[in-house]
Amino acid sequence: MKHLLSIEQLSRDEIVRILRATADYKKNREKNSKKPLVGQTWALIFSKPSTRTRVSFEVGIRELGGNSIYLNATDAQLGRGELIKDTARVLGRMVHGAVIRTYAQADIEEFAEFSGIPTINALTDDEHPCQILGDIFTIEEKRKSIAGRVVTFVGDGASNTARSWLFAANKLDFELRIASAPKYQPKAKVLKRAGGRVICTDDLPAAVRGADVLYTDIWVSMGREGEEARREAELAPYWINESVVKLAKPDALVMHCLPAHRGQEIDEKTFEAHAQTIFDQAENRLHVQKAILAEVASGKSN
Ligand code: CP
Ligand code: NVA
Repeated sequence: MKHLLSIEQLSRDEIVRILRATADYKKNREKNSKKPLVGQTWALIFSKPSTRTRVSFEVGIRELGGNSIYLNATDAQLGRGELIKDTARVLGRMVHGAVIRTYAQADIEEFAEFSGIPTINALTDDEHPCQILGDIFTIEEKRKSIAGRVVTFVGDGASNTARSWLFAANKLDFELRIASAPKYQPKAKVLKRAGGRVICTDDLPAAVRGADVLYTDIWVSMGREGEEARREAELAPYWINESVVKLAKPDALVMHCLPAHRGQEIDEKTFEAHAQTIFDQAENRLHVQKAILAEVASGKSN
């Protein structure tokens, strides 16, 4: 696997291999013995803000023996109109890999094609694969296999995190339910591409009943700031609160990719009651990304 651009493009075997390596990196973090990035420098090119993703990649690269440089895309010449394919060809001659957070999925695909170096999607408008791999690892760490489970996504069903969940469902054989207003459901063509057991509904109680996992993300993703008032009104019924949690399985996990907006997609009490799981999710970004970095750096194929 040379790049990690989306869950859509990952095979089931690649996902399983990454999750297995994640467990190993987590268990043996203190030994810090595997250093597949020694002598390497990786570029982090971010066009949107980040706390978790940036820090976990910078720390992860260092723990694997490599160095990283952070480029805010607006400070780089990219922000003044230099083409992605030219930037990619320059960086491809200087660094060993790139971690990119941007808007269009096509931009990251273009970078991967022209740079010739391993490229990792650190969030685009379409997908957030590192997040969802970390979340699946968290679920399996707490509940064994995700296969056969019911995961209910509550909130903006057309978001990048929802889409990565969609593509994971078929590959890992779990049921995904998306509870959202009709306008914020995934597009039919995306559902068709993903396949699998997916239920999209505006009936929140029906989507939550008997679920093993309740998952949410912010209503207003980065880049959608102009839609705040409209989204807050239209998505208002689609939040996780104490009465919603009662409809799920008694031991249901409540998860949030963070950052959280209490009183919007989740209430304060529910967030704090499930903080252990939510911050385990955040920590697991580090371990899963070390596994991803090692995998793409080795360029191993199935
Ligand atoms: N969940 C996540 O990707 O967080 P950041 O935006 O802080 O990186
Ligand atoms: N859907 C959110 C995820 C943040 C980690 C966004 O794109 O802003």
